[in-house]
Amino acid sequence: MTKRFIGLMAGTSLDGVDAVLVRFGNASPVIEAAVSRPYPDRIRHTLRAIGAGSPLADVVAADQAVADAFGEAVRALLAEARQTAEAVTAIGSHGQTVWHRPGAPKAASVQIGDPSRIAEATGITTVADFRRRDIAAGGEGAPLAPAFHLAILQGQGSGTAVLNLGGIANLTVGDAPGGPIGFDCGPANTLMDRWTERHLGERYDADGAWGAGGAVIPELLERLLADPFFRQPPPKSTGPERFGPDWLDDHLAALPHPPAPVDVQATLADLTARTVADALSASTGGSAAAPGRLLVCGGGVHNTHLMGTLRRHLPGWQVGSTEEIGIDPDFVEAAAFAWLARETLAGRPGNLPGVTGARRPVVLGGIYPA
Ligand SMILES: Nc1ncnc2c1ncn2[C@@H]1O[C@H](COP(=O)(O)OP(=O)(O)OP(=O)(O)O)[C@@H](O)[C@H]1O
Ligand SMILES: [Mg+2]
Repeated sequence: MTKRFIGLMAGTSLDGVDAVLVRFGNASPVIEAAVSRPYPDRIRHTLRAIGAGSPLADVVAADQAVADAFGEAVRALLAEARQTAEAVTAIGSHGQTVWHRPGAPKAASVQIGDPSRIAEATGITTVADFRRRDIAAGGEGAPLAPAFHLAILQGQGSGTAVLNLGGIANLTVGDAPGGPIGFDCGPANTLMDRWTERHLGERYDADGAWGAGGAVIPELLERLLADPFFRQPPPKSTGPERFGPDWLDDHLAALPHPPAPVDVQATLADLTARTVADALSASTGGSAAAPGRLLVCGGGVHNTHLMGTLRRHLPGWQVGSTEEIGIDPDFVEAAAFAWLARETLAGRPGNLPGVTGARRPVVLGGIYPA
């Protein structure tokens, strides 16, 4: 039976809220409408400042402000789709991560954006808080999108992988030698965004044009690549609290001379491409394995320089976007949460233990009735 779900995603880049209306039937999911609503600068700066040491009152205020932004995104989405709330079975809301601490036994992941408030504002049943049940079952609570990536790869044949270039890069490989895997490879846009903001006063390096004019700094690249996270085997997840401006600044401070900002930007793009290529090679059984096809999603797909660098590091691979399989690359992650809400309402587990490290598959999230 055909059902419509809304997916709401706000990623680690703090760029804003993505909302999608997804139709599920017997065939592949279809994105019927999508909107992106940038966070006002005020909210972005508030969110950036929130972390483990924040006053509770600030967290509560942000929790409500994010929920209101999500509610607004649903209103805009329904208007765009010319649909009413009644046409939608449920919303799957990821929320906004403000703190992600992987690693048992003290793993924790906090998403804000009060789901009660979203259900009340929209009149639509809202499923949210997807990560904590996986953590309770011994997992890292992340990444969750690989289950959806695998669902959309059905029928694509072997050798196809999905790469999400959001704030963080994550990779899903369906036919890895030991079974499907998905994990965070390291930073994608988050470091480049913060560096661009610092030196150009822009939110991001549009099309990667700035970084394209720089030269990779080998000493810096080597230092960054030496971070143990890159060698850690999956399951693994990470966030900007680990790969943030402080991490970069510490490595820059260790260089004999302060480098030109444009060269740092080029190095960061190379770092992402290198770590993705290494992770892909390792998870497909080493460089001897036949190159396959890589479908990229997330905002990084618009960074022409990053995509070109990635192709250079993946000779023989066919590197394209999820557009090739009919899914707008900007909305894959939001669609994943529409899909996860559907799994939850159907009583099906949404996590993949091999991906998150959980002891068992569990039904994820809480249901906040309309
Ligand atoms: N035209 C463009 N040129 C270069 N980079 C772009 C462009 N458009 C978007 N981006 C990058 O994509 C980022 C947003 O990507 P996306 O929304 O996938 O990330 P996210 O919200 O952090 O998601 P995730 O949770 O997957 O990390 C922007 O912050 C920017 O770095
Ligand atoms: Mg985003």
